[in-house]
Amino acid sequence: MNRDDLGFFKRWFTDYVKSFYSPNKEDQKNISLKEKHTFNVCKNIIEITGELGLSDKDMMLAEVIALFHDIGRFPQYAKYKTFRDRKSVNHGFLGAQTLLEEKILQDLPDKEQELIIKAVRFHNAFSIPKVEGEDSVFFIKLIKDADKLDIWRVFLEYYDAPEEERASAVGFGLRDITGYSEEILSCILRGQMASLSLLKSLNDFKLMQLSWVYDLHYKPSFRLLSERAYIDKIISHLPQDEGIQKASIVLKKFVKERLKE
Ligand SMILES: [Fe+2]
Repeated sequence: MNRDDLGFFKRWFTDYVKSFYSPNKEDQKNISLKEKHTFNVCKNIIEITGELGLSDKDMMLAEVIALFHDIGRFPQYAKYKTFRDRKSVNHGFLGAQTLLEEKILQDLPDKEQELIIKAVRFHNAFSIPKVEGEDSVFFIKLIKDADKLDIWRVFLEYYDAPEEERASAVGFGLRDITGYSEEILSCILRGQMASLSLLKSLNDFKLMQLSWVYDLHYKPSFRLLSERAYIDKIISHLPQDEGIQKASIVLKKFVKERLKE
């Protein structure tokens, strides 16, 4: 992998995404959202890998993974008009398949191709498959961190936006009702990540996103989380009761510990 390869992949990505642009305002909003998300995830991964002191080559590899991590979102939306994997397809798998079909990586060494494909395939896995090699696991963790750090931004913008400006595919169709599930709150208090299957409302969704803090891997990611004050910002969109305050304290303590390591 060299600078020329990286430049080529960036141009290819831009053209590929353009082929999904739509005159329909709603569809275009959803496509643009994923395009912008991709560029932010690239920026995040550059920051994280820079701070971790990776080699130039590994930094470029990480950037390509970030560039392609959500490539499956475009054909997914074109076909199913949703970003909900449960209602359509696993977009990580579709992304890996798309890269193979488009033969976009074929000039790279086999090992690099394999690494990129694996990271794209598993970037959205709840837990990383045990069978994967050490290198792959490292890059999967990197993309998971960089991705989450921008997903928090996407959702905060969604919660802040007036209803008519919200990109429809973001909210997952969950109802914006008062209250939340105790089950998800207790996941946070126990230090566990909550699973999608527990969600009943938009507040549950916010709590689940808070629980993702337990699935961050690298110190620079915790630094970015803390700098951007995502925990406080998400908490501010939840009911201000004792349970939520407890969650906030537990989460912040966890982050503080990780920053000390
Ligand atoms: Fe994704």
